[in-house]
Amino acid sequence: MPSPQSAAPHPGVPRHLAVIMDGNGRWAERRRRPRLIGHRAGARAVNVCIDVCLARGVEALTLFAFSSENWGRPEEEVGGLMKLFLAALEREVDELHRRGVRLRFIGDRDRFQPDILARMRDAEARTAGNTSLHLTIAASYGGRQDIAHATRALAVEVAEGRLRPEQIDEAAVARHMALADLPPPDLFIRTGGDHRISNFLLWQLAYTELWFTETLWPDLDATLLDAAFADFANRERRFGLTGAQIRSAQAGTDASPSADRIDA
Ligand code: FPP
Repeated sequence: MPSPQSAAPHPGVPRHLAVIMDGNGRWAERRRRPRLIGHRAGARAVNVCIDVCLARGVEALTLFAFSSENWGRPEEEVGGLMKLFLAALEREVDELHRRGVRLRFIGDRDRFQPDILARMRDAEARTAGNTSLHLTIAASYGGRQDIAHATRALAVEVAEGRLRPEQIDEAAVARHMALADLPPPDLFIRTGGDHRISNFLLWQLAYTELWFTETLWPDLDATLLDAAFADFANRERRFGLTGAQIRSAQAGTDASPSADRIDA
């Protein structure tokens, strides 16, 4: 496997990568091991993914770590995952901070235990000024829930007289969605062989390029990510326009909606 650090920057690298890290359970089951062993291996693959993103110049990485529906998994698996999250927070945040990674969490925090919540808040506060990679962990997150929260926030603004209903447009909704300060994901990767979005960033993925692989998440390596980036680099993103319009706009400036640099 080529070292991420030694590879030349890839020309078609996505600025914002969103990932569904699927296949931990099957990875463990194939080895006749408990599913939690697969999640532990999955946590190591998270580090590989971060390393590659830093090395290739990806600006934002959003990982789906735990969906709002995952709370319904067997108690033992949910408890094990919570322990794993806490351990990862205790172990990784110093190093992420040293490498200039800004760490944030999206999702419904109400169901997390106080020790995890405190670590999440501490990690966010400590890394708030970092800009090398905007790392967002979606935990207890659901895309429909995200849209519902935005809708509720707009309703409150209307009820309080700060917004008129006719002022509700796409930009107004977007302001209240998770990841509002980031450009939408350019590339979505799902490992594990299934071809679905599974209630991840439903609003934000509207024009994202989708890439699926049979590889199970714990087997992720730099070669696989580079293959996804190479495929992405060859896609023509039209955003509802014609190919000719996009090519003429690109001859002048970049026509993609995420052309501005991500601010700190
Ligand atoms: C999906 O695989 C994975 C999860 C529900 C958990 C993701 C967790 C990690 C990658 C490890 C820790 C993450 C962080 C951010 C520290 P699955 O269990 O649905 O796999 P299966 O489809 O093979 O059963």
